[in-house]
Amino acid sequence: MILLTGVTGTNGLEVAKALAAKGVPFKAMLRDRPRTSDIAALGGQPIPGDFDRPDTLPAAMVGCDRALLLSAVGPRMFHQEQSFIAAARAAGMKHIVKFSALGADPLAKSLLQRVHGQAEQDLEGSGVAWTHVRPPFFMQNILSSAKDIRTRGEFFGHFGSGRAAYVDVRDIAALIAAVLTADIADHAGKVYQPTGPAALSCAEQAMVLTKVLQRPVKFVPIPRDTVRQALITHGMLESVAQGIVDLDALVEQGQAATVTDDVRRVAGRNPRTFEQFVLDHLAHFKV
Ligand SMILES: NC(=O)c1ccc[n+]([C@@H]2O[C@H](COP(=O)([O-])OP(=O)(O)OC[C@H]3O[C@@H](n4cnc5c(N)ncnc54)[C@H](OP(=O)(O)O)[C@@H]3O)[C@@H](O)[C@H]2O)c1
Repeated sequence: MILLTGVTGTNGLEVAKALAAKGVPFKAMLRDRPRTSDIAALGGQPIPGDFDRPDTLPAAMVGCDRALLLSAVGPRMFHQEQSFIAAARAAGMKHIVKFSALGADPLAKSLLQRVHGQAEQDLEGSGVAWTHVRPPFFMQNILSSAKDIRTRGEFFGHFGSGRAAYVDVRDIAALIAAVLTADIADHAGKVYQPTGPAALSCAEQAMVLTKVLQRPVKFVPIPRDTVRQALITHGMLESVAQGIVDLDALVEQGQAATVTDDVRRVAGRNPRTFEQFVLDHLAHFKV
């Protein structure tokens, strides 16, 4: 049986949908009871569990031999994932797919890449078979700018003119579902970097939006310190806000622009283009 975590979030829900589409049963670890109906509707079995309450994890893992480990960005991410890995090892879990991020490295300067790297390292030393999934940036991130695009015909960002191989989370989910349903030996010890089919700058994303929406959409670059301050004003911890703007380096140095064929190789389908993503989310962008 497969255990999914992070299933109420952007990627986890898509993994649940991808497994449901394959008719594969799964359990979904939830810390919030009212969410159980969404999972049950997909044929999943909701099971209580909280990364911050390690005592809840053994019961969540009963009967499960494979898991997706996906936690939220935050200061507790490493400790949360460490608790999960320790519990999985004790429970005899056979395979963990770790949702990581591009540039994960235990020695990285950026907080987010560093904690993902540390969690990957912890998993690799656990004795449980592992697969790391390190996407660059999600196409879905632009949905947080949908109101600006709708009402002002512009969106703001701190990536400047650098390019990134934005990936649709539905394609990441297809890759993860394929890994979780294959023989463990096929993917154990592998690192995948699912990307979209092309690297785009924010100005090029604006051109695609302009074409599909048939009205002008402009990208407006803003200083990274403005973004950092805005995140802090919205309640984010300073260290996490700094970690997010530090990801700029991936774009500036060209690392985020690498296009891979991991989605096609592992999931057996071509990744969606940004144009397809916009067409599928028209309701968010249309006035
Ligand atoms: N944004 C990007 O472009 C990007 C790119 C590469 C990698 N990433 C990585 O993607 C990951 C986030 O993925 P996402 O955006 O799909 O996540 P998300 O939408 O933020 O969802 C996070 C999930 O974690 C669950 N969760 C949080 N705290 C928990 C706890 N204490 N116990 C159990 N579950 C808990 C949440 O459940 P609740 O509903 O209960 O809160 C939710 O289901 C991060 O690791 C980030 O570094 C992001």
